[in-house]
Amino acid sequence: MEKNKKVVLSGIRPTGDLHLGNYFGALANYIKMQDEYNCYFMVADLHSLTTHPDTAELKKNVFGVLAIYLACGLDPQKVSLYCQSQLRQTGELYLYLNMMSYKGELEKTVTFKEKARQHPDNINAGLLTYPVLMATDILIHRALYVPVGKDQEQHLEMTRTFANRFNHRYGEVFPAPYAFNFNKELIKVPGLNGEGKMSKSTNESATIFLTDEDEAIRKKIKKAKTDSGPTEPNSIKPDYIENLFQLMNLVSAPNAVIAYNEKFNNAAIRYGEMKEQLAEDMVQFVAPIRQKIKDIANDESYLIRVIKDGAEKASESAEKTLGEVRRAIGVNYTG
Ligand code: TRP
Repeated sequence: MEKNKKVVLSGIRPTGDLHLGNYFGALANYIKMQDEYNCYFMVADLHSLTTHPDTAELKKNVFGVLAIYLACGLDPQKVSLYCQSQLRQTGELYLYLNMMSYKGELEKTVTFKEKARQHPDNINAGLLTYPVLMATDILIHRALYVPVGKDQEQHLEMTRTFANRFNHRYGEVFPAPYAFNFNKELIKVPGLNGEGKMSKSTNESATIFLTDEDEAIRKKIKKAKTDSGPTEPNSIKPDYIENLFQLMNLVSAPNAVIAYNEKFNNAAIRYGEMKEQLAEDMVQFVAPIRQKIKDIANDESYLIRVIKDGAEKASESAEKTLGEVRRAIGVNYTG
């Protein structure tokens, strides 16, 4: 890893199939960052244990996320691609950071309150300290930039609080990390039903997964909400129509988008035709990614090699940080 490059870290929990929203919101950003920055991308399997104690599918899901990272274009020669549980120093830094995070601030975390409401029978300490584990992931490589969506902003703010608290108490070890996005505005990937964005947990039938087969994609787009079309030229698009145009913007040729916009403005649009075009362009976009994911997911020995190499690279950087952390705290008794 080159010395003068700024450090980037991000992670994805292996708790469900990744979809178009993850692709444009996260993965496309990661790919752009891999040349310019010293990148660590990991699969947050330990985080998934806070809400998914059943591990029967864990390995399959971890390898699934890894395969997606690779299929989308992350190059394991350029970045460190690893699995959180395989970086053993994580446990040690998590422990130290737990000593300086307070019950009150952890209980106030929005994601904690939400998850506690969803799983009232499993409000475990790991769930409460979820932000401490995430701070550990970031601080262990002294990352400056964290490409994540808005929903993770509070966790990042807490990471900065823990970093500052540590530095104040024991001496300067950690820089303050910030969310990072190449686009000024986060790209929105709307769902197909006119309500909210694509999401595994809240909007599954309106979501296109990177592993969806062609027919599934066509079916979902065919079912997308439309109406009988504008009755006057230059009308305002209803939300659900605007969403279809946004999706087209992401996967169709610019000419096609222009043409359908013109048809809309002339009140001469046929949504059935537009959806057919969108479906075909979506299939063209997703199919090669899906095929690559499948090929890579089938090559277990390759994935094992990637995971081992990634852990080695990540471990080198983590060990350096922990050396300074132990020294700063004063728990290095043997020199
Ligand atoms: N909490 C993140 C999410 O749910 C996943 C995650 C874990 C993460 N550790 C991280 C993201 C470190 C960025 C950096 O999406």
